[in-house]
Amino acid sequence: MNVLVTGGAGYIGSHVVLALLDAGHSVVVIDDLSTGCSDNLPSDIPFFHVDIRDEQALRACFEKHSIDAIIHLAAKKAVGESMKHPELYFSVNVEGTRVLAQEARRAGVKTFVFSSSAAVYGNPSESPVTEHTPLAPESVYGVTKKMGEELLLWFGFTLVNLRYFNVVGYDPSGRITVPEKQPQNLFPILCETGVGVRERVQIFGTDYDTRDGTCERDYVHVTDLATAHVRALSLDESITLNLGIGRALSVRECVYAAQEVFGEFAVEDAPRRPGDPAAYYANPSRAQNVLGWEAQITDPVEMITTMKPLYE
Ligand SMILES: NC(=O)c1ccc[n+]([C@@H]2O[C@H](COP(=O)([O-])OP(=O)(O)OC[C@H]3O[C@@H](n4cnc5c(N)ncnc54)[C@H](O)[C@@H]3O)[C@@H](O)[C@H]2O)c1
Repeated sequence: MNVLVTGGAGYIGSHVVLALLDAGHSVVVIDDLSTGCSDNLPSDIPFFHVDIRDEQALRACFEKHSIDAIIHLAAKKAVGESMKHPELYFSVNVEGTRVLAQEARRAGVKTFVFSSSAAVYGNPSESPVTEHTPLAPESVYGVTKKMGEELLLWFGFTLVNLRYFNVVGYDPSGRITVPEKQPQNLFPILCETGVGVRERVQIFGTDYDTRDGTCERDYVHVTDLATAHVRALSLDESITLNLGIGRALSVRECVYAAQEVFGEFAVEDAPRRPGDPAAYYANPSRAQNVLGWEAQITDPVEMITTMKPLYE
């Protein structure tokens, strides 16, 4: 297949591009490089340095390349920033998806794989979270992802809607060389602390009703996630799939794993952050059944080991 990957120079996108090429697909990438890095892309694939809201530029891309399917990852993804700048998030994540959908339909593309997020579930009261868990996003980011899901369905595409839980790790074979800029998630922060870029890691909340009092989340390795995207291309009906490992790791367990990989570093217990759910994890059985997919890397030490070379 000839697959257009939007946001292909980003953290997850660059892994999806590698997985597509490994599987024998052709790839075209669109990215405005606002957070992505072109050094993480093979130099011999067509690359459009373009904003997905730029109708004319998208049209030119579709005129030049005959696209069979789109994997749409381009988006803004920082929850905190989305609360401060809702206009940016509605513009890129919703209007950008609208322009892309319009030009894709015009070009006759039938299939979309969409990067959605567990953020559409908000603060789920029960785990495991299934695809039937009610949608109740609690951030502008989560709302824009929910709107993106609906928009693509209303445009009539065959939509494989992938709701990722927390994505971690890097290509274990070392083909990605530039780490995410200004990471805001736990695992990159652990790595930055492990190599001394940060002085200490703060654990926000140690009195939750969880195994060790710290928050628990489902962390899925980016290489496993990329595999799911490739398999999603073979589906011919719209479907929503949760992508997680189906188990929660606590913040403290992740800290210990990072210390096993990097050695000791300073850790500070801090008060809870408002709005952080205590614990949630995915039920990924629908993805297992439909895609024959199961996360292969589930040990946090192994996950962090794949990240270490990018931070040294
Ligand atoms: N990282 C996670 O844990 C996670 C979890 C759930 C969902 N997601 C979703 O996965 C997707 C990829 O996330 P990521 O972690 O790789 O983030 P990222 O910021 O590394 O990737 C996003 C890419 O999109 C590009 N981009 C942003 N705005 C654009 C625009 N207007 N036009 C063209 N390109 C644009 C960026 O330059 C970047 O390369 C996003 O849609 C995100 O919402 C990520």
